[in-house]
Amino acid sequence: MTPPRKSIHGSWSSRLAFVLAATGSAVGLGNIWKFPYIAGEHGGGAFVLVYLACIALIGIPIMMAEVMLGRRGRQSPINTMRALAAEANANHAWRWVGWAGVAAGFLILSYYSVIAGWALAYVFRSMAGAFSGATAEGVGSIFIQLTEDPERLLAWHTIFMVMTMIVVARGVKSGLEQAVRFLVPSLFVLLIMLDGYAMASGAFDEGLRFLFTPDFSKIDANGVLIAMGHAFFTLSLGMGAIMVYGSYLPERASIARTSITIALLDTLVALLAGMAIFPLVFSNGLEPGVGPGLIFQTLPIAFGHMTGGVVFGTLFFVLLVFAAWTSAISLIEPAVAWLVENKGVTRVHASVYAGAATWGVGLLTILSFNRWADFHPLSFISIFEKSTIFDLLDYLTANIMLPLGGLAIAIFSAWVMRREDTVQELDMGDGPAYRLWHFLVRYVTPVAVIIVFLNVTGLVDF
Ligand code: PFF
Ligand code: NA
Repeated sequence: MTPPRKSIHGSWSSRLAFVLAATGSAVGLGNIWKFPYIAGEHGGGAFVLVYLACIALIGIPIMMAEVMLGRRGRQSPINTMRALAAEANANHAWRWVGWAGVAAGFLILSYYSVIAGWALAYVFRSMAGAFSGATAEGVGSIFIQLTEDPERLLAWHTIFMVMTMIVVARGVKSGLEQAVRFLVPSLFVLLIMLDGYAMASGAFDEGLRFLFTPDFSKIDANGVLIAMGHAFFTLSLGMGAIMVYGSYLPERASIARTSITIALLDTLVALLAGMAIFPLVFSNGLEPGVGPGLIFQTLPIAFGHMTGGVVFGTLFFVLLVFAAWTSAISLIEPAVAWLVENKGVTRVHASVYAGAATWGVGLLTILSFNRWADFHPLSFISIFEKSTIFDLLDYLTANIMLPLGGLAIAIFSAWVMRREDTVQELDMGDGPAYRLWHFLVRYVTPVAVIIVFLNVTGLVDF
């Protein structure tokens, strides 16, 4: 079976459109909400360094592999893996990589949408001037009021899921490309302005020191796994999101250059966010390790005290919602593409089914912040002692499913596919650049993922 040369779902209008869409998928809550709070929980500098190393050595090569597979397979990740396995005379069990990716996308979106709902709520809080002159305490209580009310969380989660499914239903081209074109540059400008504010806050040095001075006694095996998992999460890797976007890539384009650009933009957004948030954490006597509420309990203090803070804060949360929106779309696209290909349903129907299922699973996350806040199902395992269902979902997806998906993608690309097929598809010749990629994907990624896993389970101790 030879894979089709064109996707039935349509194509991006240009290479730039692909770059924008993939950047839209990568840049999201992972950068602005998650990166600061997990860096805060795991001691800062050393964690950041491990994360940066994972982006360079694992993230970029795997992103290239995913784009390559998608562009060669031209179908949803499940069918792409099936077709490429057939092409390489490999076991058709490889399609399970696609299935696992669809499952990971569902689970991630189920909680991603709830957090995006917080950002939506904060657009309106900000607009109403709720943060004006606010203290750390005041801002903290606004956050608690929101998260301890399941009905409110449900309403925002529902709104965000509907927004997501509307764009997904409309298809590849309409809407998405335009949104990202304006979103990423605006987000940069706003973050840089926030960094300017943080710089004047009095604790900028302390914030930078926290983020960039590595103290390896502060990070354990589990912290290393979380840093690696976050490299997959933040670049949207290991579940087929970038693969499915690659399948809509129309012409020959430099997969290497494109992947590096996307990874650099994503990393820059995360670091700018961290540099804005930690100075505020320290200048307001807050704890860096407070968890998922971190940005919602720090940034509003800045908005509440700067001139034009109402406009600025509103704009910031609007952009955060947009960033989450363009990521959410890519989380569900692999499932929707598969439903259209294999079940003969329209995109609209596929979106409704996939969206409704995800929405339902989201209830678990909503309750984790209030009624079930003290329910810790795996408390008998020490690293999960205080983990809620939301924490466990996040851990399972980001730190287990995505790295395993990435491992499978690496093995498939560098051990199962014919070398000459990957040379042809990556289209950068057979020189040092290709060889570096091949080496990283063939040896470095698999070994790194396996070592980190073994280390956390305690089977091996480094
Ligand atoms: N990369 C997104 C972020 O950093 O917010 C999250 C994400 C999107 C993860 C798509 C995985 C994915 F497939
Ligand atoms: Na990201």
